[in-house]
Amino acid sequence: MDTLHDVMSRGAYILQRDLEEFEENIRELIGVKHVLGVADGTNALILALRAADVGDGDEVIMSSHTYIATAASVHFVGAKPVLVECGADHMIDPESVERAINDKTKVIMPTQLNGRTCDMDALQSIADKHGLAIIEDAAQALSSMYKGKCAGTFGLAGTFSFYPAKVLGCFGDGGAIVTNNDEIAERVALFRDHGRNKDGEVVTWGTNSRLDNIQAAILNLKLRTFKKDIERRRQIAAMYDQALNNIDDLFLPPAPDADENHYDIYQNYELESGHRDELRSFLAERGVGTIIQWGGKAVHQFKGLGFDNVRLPVVEKMTSRFLMLPMHTALTDEDVGYICDCIVEFYSTDYAN
Ligand SMILES: Cc1ncc(COP(=O)(O)O)c(C=O)c1O
Repeated sequence: MDTLHDVMSRGAYILQRDLEEFEENIRELIGVKHVLGVADGTNALILALRAADVGDGDEVIMSSHTYIATAASVHFVGAKPVLVECGADHMIDPESVERAINDKTKVIMPTQLNGRTCDMDALQSIADKHGLAIIEDAAQALSSMYKGKCAGTFGLAGTFSFYPAKVLGCFGDGGAIVTNNDEIAERVALFRDHGRNKDGEVVTWGTNSRLDNIQAAILNLKLRTFKKDIERRRQIAAMYDQALNNIDDLFLPPAPDADENHYDIYQNYELESGHRDELRSFLAERGVGTIIQWGGKAVHQFKGLGFDNVRLPVVEKMTSRFLMLPMHTALTDEDVGYICDCIVEFYSTDYAN
């Protein structure tokens, strides 16, 4: 309440001090040159693509296991989203990326999914070989790392969402674009504020896509516990892993210490189960809520979007198996223990057969 009162008593609503502080905080947190707060994660993607001159006739490659917003942003700048397979860790499959490249391809857009960063070495070498840009949809992965480098900072630009359910979530919609490229930053700064420069003069076409100052102030407050929150999420992931990794029917996300190249923030704990729907009902009956991300559909499985001829067997198999267990700092060790006990009980009955 103090934060809200402070912002309101200053009448500081648009492009004010709290937003500048927030942008500085994110710059420091993830080690990037420019951060620009925008309306939400979807607009962050659209403006990043526009700033990179992606438009008519261009193709952008992404995993089909991503949020519809990743593909929609490409559609809305006039380009074509090209959907490919994901690998065993649910991240975009580099070999499928390479197979999808043609002379219209302009960008590879990996989603840093569930709080994990993709194998960026593999993607970067493909991008370099074919002269492509990388724009990361890092909406789910603020401060997750690959080889010590943060998601969002690898490519030409990266984007974040501060939707309330994100590890860093505000009290409404919010997003940001990050980049080490001065020109991209300059263009996004114009695009997000009606094409106006610092003197208020309109110098290009722009739109209204600014992160509200009041949301920035809330995010600054929440950033104070952000690192602690992530450590707790990693503890919970380790507890799930320890209790469940010997159940053959489950395929778990990589454990926090499974691979020294990755530092995952566990935005979600998305596992695969061969008996997903039965397990989900069993848990619901015992008061454990679970989520099937994006309604259990990959982007190419939505009708009416023009992907009727796309076949991606790996992703399609996974979408019938994906399930997200509860993952939140409010969970106590007892809560996590109870959830694990329920799952072990499910697999010890003939329920699963
Ligand atoms: C992977 C991914 N991309 C894009 C977005 C879009 O962000 P927003 O909801 O802030 O527009 C989200 C948010 O849920 C997301 O998870």
